[in-house]
Amino acid sequence: MTAVGIDRISFYCPRYSLPLTALAGARGVDAAKYLEGLGQEVMAVPPPDEDTVTMAAAAAQPLLEPPAAERVALLLLATETGVDQSKAAGLFVHGLLKLPARCRVVEVKQACYSGTAALRMACAMVAQDPESQALVIASDIARYTLGSPGEPTQGCGAVAMLVTAQPRLLTVEPHAGLHTEDVMDFWRPNYRQAALVDGKYSTRMYLHTAVQAYQHYTQASGLGLSDIDRFCYHIPFTRMAYKAHTQLAQQDAGPAPGKRELDHAVGHSLTYNRLTGNTYTAALYQGLASLLDTCPDDLGGRRIGLFSYGSGCTGEFFSMRVCKGYRKQLLTQRHRHLLADRTELTFQAYEDILNLRIPEDGLHYEFAPYRTGGFRFAGMQDHKRCYEVVT
Ligand code: HMG
Repeated sequence: MTAVGIDRISFYCPRYSLPLTALAGARGVDAAKYLEGLGQEVMAVPPPDEDTVTMAAAAAQPLLEPPAAERVALLLLATETGVDQSKAAGLFVHGLLKLPARCRVVEVKQACYSGTAALRMACAMVAQDPESQALVIASDIARYTLGSPGEPTQGCGAVAMLVTAQPRLLTVEPHAGLHTEDVMDFWRPNYRQAALVDGKYSTRMYLHTAVQAYQHYTQASGLGLSDIDRFCYHIPFTRMAYKAHTQLAQQDAGPAPGKRELDHAVGHSLTYNRLTGNTYTAALYQGLASLLDTCPDDLGGRRIGLFSYGSGCTGEFFSMRVCKGYRKQLLTQRHRHLLADRTELTFQAYEDILNLRIPEDGLHYEFAPYRTGGFRFAGMQDHKRCYEVVT
């Protein structure tokens, strides 16, 4: 069977941030609750002229130096922050990145899980036609009601992955552990900007789904935790990954793992998320990029276990093998620079951005230019979204 997987991975986050100490101060909460209780330090904040499309295009751009772009025959954009009920957000990205006309473009949705569904579909297409390449992008803005318990977990960002045969970064293994249930733990009706969530219930559903999916994975693959070197979990906030790993370790009838063991298993996957907040569909893959970029050990030849969770809910536990010499494929310096070079907002500026609503009459509207990546959402004209390349 042809090995298929991720040849390169790229992460993007907007150029504005809010330290959670500022949020804690404004909300009258002990900052330790956010920093230690949730394990978050900084929230990435999108300016009005950035959205799912601009973040997705900015994440994908570094992967598409010629001739890579010419072979992209599938673009799957996974998001729960879609910009249109009909037209796929990926079509705007296809245009901005000048991708070939002989390409399928589809948007994929199932809360935070859809990035994994898109990756699986892309691997299947490339396995069938190993000459082709697929671009999988996960892009989202996580938003809750201001002042609600979910607020400190907000964030945004995008991850793009080039899926190829004989990948040079990660081979996706075939075994999958699945679990699905129709539950209302987190959702966002079409008329709302911010998600609704039954917070504590959502964390219980996440853990329950992780256990069920892991049990299915072990039955399907004959593998257990001791066959896996590092773990990446969906990261709504970094403490959740510690809880999930503790839960899975106990499934193997072992003792609860200590702090050193937990840090070894998941620590490096959490570095980026701690500085951006939840990126929904992108969060698991941002964690994967973080692990590969920041882990000092050579992970070549090692197995990574991944748990993808999408509220509502569907979860999948699966695994990948890191390719030998993988470090040559990484965009570590770019990722570090993106996170280090951001404009810190005051609490007032943060609230002003989140409270801004674009008119919904569809008539002419232009955004003032903010700091963005290579693309911006310039405004609306005749009910059409207008994007532009930033020179
Ligand atoms: P909360 O009620 O504000 O927090 O909401 P809490 O009271 O449970 O405290 C949180 C932790 O901080 C606790 O630790 C406290 O003890 C600790 P734990 O007991 O859990 O280990 N704490 C402190 N620590 C140090 N110093 C202090 C202090 N005070 C308290 N002074 C909740 C927490 C997660 C519910 C809330 O943030 C929320 O609703 N978040 C949004 C939903 C969410 O993230 N759910 C996660 C699972 S669902 C999921 O991952 C899917 C999702 O990504 C969406 C999708 O699929 O599309 C969300």
